[in-house]
Amino acid sequence: MKIACIGGGPAGLYFAISMKLRDPAHEIEIFERNAPGVTFGWGVVFSDLTVDNITRNDPVSAAAITGELAHWDDIDVHIKGETITSGGHGFIGIGRKRLLEILQERARALGVVLHFEAECDPADPKWQGYDLVIASDGLNSRFRNANPEAFGVDTDVRQNKFIWLGTNKAFDAFTFAFEETEHGWIWAHAYRFAPDFSTFIVECSEEVWRAFGFDEMEQAETIAVCERLFAKYLDGHALMSNAAHLRGSAAWLNFPRIKCERWSSGNVILLGDAAHTAHFSIGSGTKLALEDAIKLADVLNRDGLSLGAALDEYQAERNLEVLKLQNSARNSTEWFETLDRYLHFEPLQFAYSLLTRSQRISHENLRLRDREWLEGVERWFWKRATAGQSNKTAPPMFAPLKLREMEVANRITVSPMAMYSAEDGVPNDFHFVHYGERALGGAGLLFTEMTCVSPEGRISPGCTGLWNDEQAAEWRRIVDFVHANSAAKICLQLGHSGPKGSTKLGWEGNDVPLDDGNWPVMAASDVPWSPANQVPRAMTRADMDAVRDQFVAAVKLGIDCGFDMVELHAAHGYLLSSFITPLQNKRTDDYGGSLDNRLRYPLEVFAAMRAAWPGDKPMSVRISATDWAGENGVTPDEAVAIGEAFAREGADLIDVSAGQTWAEQQPVYGRMFQTPFSDKVRNEGRLATMAVGNIYEPDHANSILAAGRADLVALARPHLVDPMWTLRAAAQLDYRDIHIPPQYLNGMSQLARNLKREAEIAAALRV
Ligand SMILES: Cc1cc2nc3c(=O)[nH]c(=O)nc-3n(C[C@H](O)[C@H](O)[C@H](O)COP(=O)(O)OP(=O)(O)OC[C@H]3O[C@@H](n4cnc5c(N)ncnc54)[C@H](O)[C@@H]3O)c2cc1C
Ligand SMILES: Cc1cc2nc3c(=O)[nH]c(=O)nc-3n(C[C@H](O)[C@H](O)[C@H](O)COP(=O)(O)O)c2cc1C
Repeated sequence: MKIACIGGGPAGLYFAISMKLRDPAHEIEIFERNAPGVTFGWGVVFSDLTVDNITRNDPVSAAAITGELAHWDDIDVHIKGETITSGGHGFIGIGRKRLLEILQERARALGVVLHFEAECDPADPKWQGYDLVIASDGLNSRFRNANPEAFGVDTDVRQNKFIWLGTNKAFDAFTFAFEETEHGWIWAHAYRFAPDFSTFIVECSEEVWRAFGFDEMEQAETIAVCERLFAKYLDGHALMSNAAHLRGSAAWLNFPRIKCERWSSGNVILLGDAAHTAHFSIGSGTKLALEDAIKLADVLNRDGLSLGAALDEYQAERNLEVLKLQNSARNSTEWFETLDRYLHFEPLQFAYSLLTRSQRISHENLRLRDREWLEGVERWFWKRATAGQSNKTAPPMFAPLKLREMEVANRITVSPMAMYSAEDGVPNDFHFVHYGERALGGAGLLFTEMTCVSPEGRISPGCTGLWNDEQAAEWRRIVDFVHANSAAKICLQLGHSGPKGSTKLGWEGNDVPLDDGNWPVMAASDVPWSPANQVPRAMTRADMDAVRDQFVAAVKLGIDCGFDMVELHAAHGYLLSSFITPLQNKRTDDYGGSLDNRLRYPLEVFAAMRAAWPGDKPMSVRISATDWAGENGVTPDEAVAIGEAFAREGADLIDVSAGQTWAEQQPVYGRMFQTPFSDKVRNEGRLATMAVGNIYEPDHANSILAAGRADLVALARPHLVDPMWTLRAAAQLDYRDIHIPPQYLNGMSQLARNLKREAEIAAALRV
């Protein structure tokens, strides 16, 4: 094949090499706009896995590259005068210039023709004379941008400003240096890539950037300011730019996240940064470029594969890898963009949060990397959790939490789950066993299902209620069992179904109206949940008074039952949520319109409940932190304001759920998918929160808690099939200081022994 590679960066060069290795008959030319030896940037980092991949592909260039790799293990985080060092991270780096020299030499040796100082114009007809034109022309690709529709280009220009500088200071560790200045926070990401050379990327928010006047400075001045700001890390070494030709503030960039729906059009194929980018803070751009090149060369040389099929396979496989990395990169980018959220953390927790920011590294990964450091974090966590009383080194999920005078023994909660198994709202033997079993399972806190404050406030005829003495007596039986047989505390979740009421049992159809015997429903406005549901009556002030009083009456019964805590359900599109979300609330009075107005009634109900509930016992509120409807619904920013408003009325914990507030929601699911909302509400609002939503491993819980993303972790579905989730986690993590029902002691030690043995076998097999 006759092939033109536009751009002689890592992608173009490595593709040319990989093609020639597979078939020397290919005629390949590379056109690079720069002169040889002229390039942007300084060093790049790799992982061991990338080295394995390139070694398998081309041992010759890999040997030259690995011969020059700088290795380091530690990450140093400098903040507020402290340096937090953790080890075991295993980085390797190389100068970008050196990498390109090695690849150019290898390409030449294999017969690739290199043209330098050759600016390519996509409109030039000469490209039609090539079988393939490889657009390896970087993130600003002219060949992609000449025809953006054909490639389905999606660019997301990120908020922060950064500049890629170099220095002769040799950093021994991968260094993050955060500096508080008169204009706000600015920080550097620095790493060594040669014996006496390091990359030094300076980053800050646009606001801080403007406050410094960087937008009006020439590069030399910018560099002088950065040298002054980071002088204590540079030991007298200068900072340098290799983009000196750029005038004014042009050397500062906003990172563009690029993805493309299609990676080829006509004879043009996108490769490397032209097809996708991943934020520099996870350091994977070059790895992706090299791996793209290997895959493309593979499929183009596979016998029997048509060009179309080859390109389909190339895109399908590489895109999956890119999406995974872009997901992590997005988490990492956002962490730096929302840095203010974490600046109140103590340095140790700040460093933990930084290390786990992309969610690729978890608590147990950190233990493998640096056990001693992680145990320091665990001790710090326990000390804080116990107001200095405990020096324990143990997983954060087992640390206690005090809310008012209630102390939960550990941080795992059984999330509220409707069982649709009551008659006339009265809990029965099923509920007794269900809650009893889960209390025995070791969770620190147990939530009841949404227990309704009136017959009309039920979702279905099977919902539990608390409006009469018969119901209260059955709840008391359950609460007494929990208190007598476990260390768990039990929280009563109270709610009113509003527009989602009068529907079938959960497993008969979600939100589907009853076949007969429907009761009238009410809501903030006369907006039906869906075309199939009843049109609710818009609540009058008299309705509002009546329902508020029902909540208060239920709270009073809850006191008689002996509950430890009460939660108001103001999420998921039920009655109080129908006031909060603008998608359902169309009122024009004091209870509709602005967020303050939409919150007025839910806050009134909460305040009335709080007044009736004992002052030494805690209360929480469950909210939907987003309607998954963009700016048309409740946004995460509003969720912070909602949490703060309830806290002012005496809420001790914000139970941060999301969505289910309108039928056409567009949620983004995934592992721990709602935890970012808890993180935001907790750390922007400085409130105690509970995270929930697809959290299913002990490692998830520990990572969330240690990183300060929540104070409690709730699991719903995992507890449906495994009531003993917390005891199992304790056995798995070899943690013994948990209440185990004496009847089950034998089983616990057996499980712990077996799990330990399995872990040892797995470790031996890995070696
Ligand atoms: C601040 C920063 C730090 C980074 N740190 C890392 C890191 O630590 N690890 C890592 O793996 N990646 C890192 N990256 C990303 C990495 O630089 C890129 O992902 C990688 O260079 C992509 O390779 P590429 O060949 O696709 O594109 P590039 O390296 O951008 O190469 C494209 C080439 O095409 C040439 N070109 C462009 N247009 C034309 C034209 N019209 N005619 C002729 N030639 C043209 C350019 O001159 C350039 O040489 C970082 C990026 C930035 C911005
Ligand atoms: C069967 C079932 C019933 C539920 N009922 C309630 C409820 O009564 N009140 C509530 O606030 N959330 C309820 N939820 C939502 C859960 O509490 C939780 O927020 C959600 O399932 C996500 O957590 P998970 O991924 O751990 O299951 C219910 C979930 C399930 C699966």
